[in-house]
Amino acid sequence: MDSAYMAIEDLKDSSEQLENLAGGIRRCVACRLHESRRHAVPGEGPVNAEIMVLGEGPGGKEDAAGRPFVGPAGRYLDTLLRGQGIARDRLFITNCVKCRPPNNRTPRRDELKTCTNLWLERQLELISPKVIVLLGQVAARQMLGDTATVSDLHGTTQPRNGRSYFVTYHPAAALRFDWIAATLQEDFEILGKLLARSTDSSQ
Ligand code: URA
Repeated sequence: MDSAYMAIEDLKDSSEQLENLAGGIRRCVACRLHESRRHAVPGEGPVNAEIMVLGEGPGGKEDAAGRPFVGPAGRYLDTLLRGQGIARDRLFITNCVKCRPPNNRTPRRDELKTCTNLWLERQLELISPKVIVLLGQVAARQMLGDTATVSDLHGTTQPRNGRSYFVTYHPAAALRFDWIAATLQEDFEILGKLLARSTDSSQ
């Protein structure tokens, strides 16, 4: 069989698997967060995305829409991405937990563990992104371990288990503190350069 044809078939197959995962997430009742959600938020983006963006968990707007980062923090994220010429529809955007914690509380350890093992790890395996952008402390700790702190690691790339993680602050924090907004902007400039370099070297 022609190899270009095979590549298209593989992509179709992986997209279907990603969509099946999304279906499983929408029906998931594995932890208490399903009790208060309106919609689970699997995440969105192409299966061949080179960048995954990982937030903490859906907020009110995301819970209503069933889509990630569509509220104020999402609009802020969009501005940061646009500033670096990164098209949102080429990224896969998701969260550590796929259902909104009540009153936007921080997801609990058992919720994070269940959701990561059941869904996030499978999304990561399928998509296999070159870089995973960790937004905020919850995402940083979930992927890099309990001692990771965004204040130490922001703006850097951290290798773990064959994956590459870029650490930065959560855009919601930038809406509250000017110094975080400035730091997030600097971090995204670093990320933009890093991605431009990796695109150059893969051509
Ligand atoms: N904050 C997050 O961490 N994720 C979203 O999807 C929205 C806000």
